[in-house]
Amino acid sequence: MGIERLLATLAITLSILSGNGNTVHSFDGGTHQKPQHSLCEELILPSGYPCSEYTIQTKDGFLLGLQRVSSSSSALRLGHDAERGPPVLLLHGLFMAGDAWFLNTPDQSLGFVLADHGFDVWVGNVRGTRWSHGHVSLPEKNKQFWDWSWQELALYDVAEIINYINSITNSKIFVVGHSQGTIISFAAFTQPEIVKKVAAAALLSPISYLDHVSAPLVLRMVKMHIDKMILSMGVHQLNFKSEWAANLLVSLCDTRLSCNDMLSSITGKNCCFNESRVEFYLEQEPHASSSKNLNHLFQMIRKGSFSKYDYGKLKNLIEYGKFKPPKFDLSRIPKSLPLWMAYGGNDALADVTDLQHTLKELPSTPEVVYLENYGHIDFILSLQAKQDLYDPMIRFFKSLGKFTSM
Ligand SMILES: *[C@@H]1O[C@H](CO)[C@@H](O)[C@H](O)[C@H]1NC(C)=O
Repeated sequence: MGIERLLATLAITLSILSGNGNTVHSFDGGTHQKPQHSLCEELILPSGYPCSEYTIQTKDGFLLGLQRVSSSSSALRLGHDAERGPPVLLLHGLFMAGDAWFLNTPDQSLGFVLADHGFDVWVGNVRGTRWSHGHVSLPEKNKQFWDWSWQELALYDVAEIINYINSITNSKIFVVGHSQGTIISFAAFTQPEIVKKVAAAALLSPISYLDHVSAPLVLRMVKMHIDKMILSMGVHQLNFKSEWAANLLVSLCDTRLSCNDMLSSITGKNCCFNESRVEFYLEQEPHASSSKNLNHLFQMIRKGSFSKYDYGKLKNLIEYGKFKPPKFDLSRIPKSLPLWMAYGGNDALADVTDLQHTLKELPSTPEVVYLENYGHIDFILSLQAKQDLYDPMIRFFKSLGKFTSM
C-alpha cells in the first residue's frame, strides 16, 4: 500500500467519525480552498437532478451553503413548490459535508433515492466545510473562526437550517443524520423551539454517548491527548488534507497498532463499500472541522457525558454559571417525535452499549434496525444501503402519513 493511499484511507477513516474520507495529495490543508463549483454543479446536476443553492446566516455570523434537490421526473411533472413532497433535511457526519449523500450512483445514494421518492431534499453543510461560505466578518485564518464545537453546530447551524426550511416550505421537516449529524440532531431536539419544527427523524449510527468507542486508533489519540496537544500547538482548524495532520496520524501507528487497515481501526470493519471508488471519495473528503470540536468529542469519550463543552471549572463558571458544563438532557426530546435508528454490529464508533444508554434516556421507543456486519461508513457508502436501510427508512417516513397526495 503506497503512503498516499494509506493516508487517504486514514483520512477517510477519521472523517468517518461522522463519515468521510481524506486525501493527502494536492492542496494544502490550510485556509485556501480548492477551486470549486457548487455542490449542485459538482455532484447533483450532472446526475440529472434539479438542484438549487441557498446561503443562510447563523446567529453567530456563519454563512452556510444549503442545497435543495428534487427528482427530475417530479420537477417536470409538478413544477411548483406547492406540489413538492415533504421536506427532508440531511445532516452529514464529522469531516464530511453534504456531498456525503451523493457519493455513489443515484440508486445507491440516499440523497438521490429520497428525491426519487418525491421528497423535497435539503442538504445541510455545517460551518468549516467546503460547501459553507465563511463568516460575515471573521476570515478563516482567524482562530476565532474555528472557535466552536458540535454544540454550536446543534444550537446555531441546525437551528438556522431548520428555521429556514420551515419558513420556505411551511412544513415540519424530516431529519436524517449520520454520526456527528446524529449528535447535533439529538442536542438540537432537546431544544423546544427547534424540535417543534421537526416531523420525525431517522438516525444512522446514532451517537449521544461515546464512552464505549472501541476504535483502537481513536482510543490511542484520546489516551495521548492529541486533541489538547493540537490546541496547545495553536492549531485551530483540523484538516486532514494537510500534510502535517496526515503525518500526525501516521505517527500514531506502530507494531501494536498497524496502519495497514487504518480505516477499520477508526470506523470498525466495513462490510460493503466499493473499494474501487476510494479515489473518487477522496476528491470530496475529508472536509475540515475545528480542533475544539475534536476536543469536545474526546471529552465525551473520556467522561461518558453528553454535555456542553467543558472549559475547565473556572471558565465553566463564567460561561455556564456552574463548575460543570450543562448536560443535553435526552429526556427532553418529546415522546411524540417519531424516531427511527439504524446501527451496526461492527461500528467501532457508535457502540451498541452507548446506543442502549441513549435509548434508555429517550422518552419514546424508537424503531430500530440492526445490521450485524455494518461498520461506521457502510451507513453512507454500502452498496446495499438502499435495500438494507434507505427503503425501510422511507417506509417509516411514509407511514407517518404525510404523503396523502403521492
Ligand atoms: C465500484 O466502483 C467502480 C469505480 O467507480 C465502478 O466502476 C463499479 O461499477 C462500482 N461497483 C458497483 C457494484 O457499484
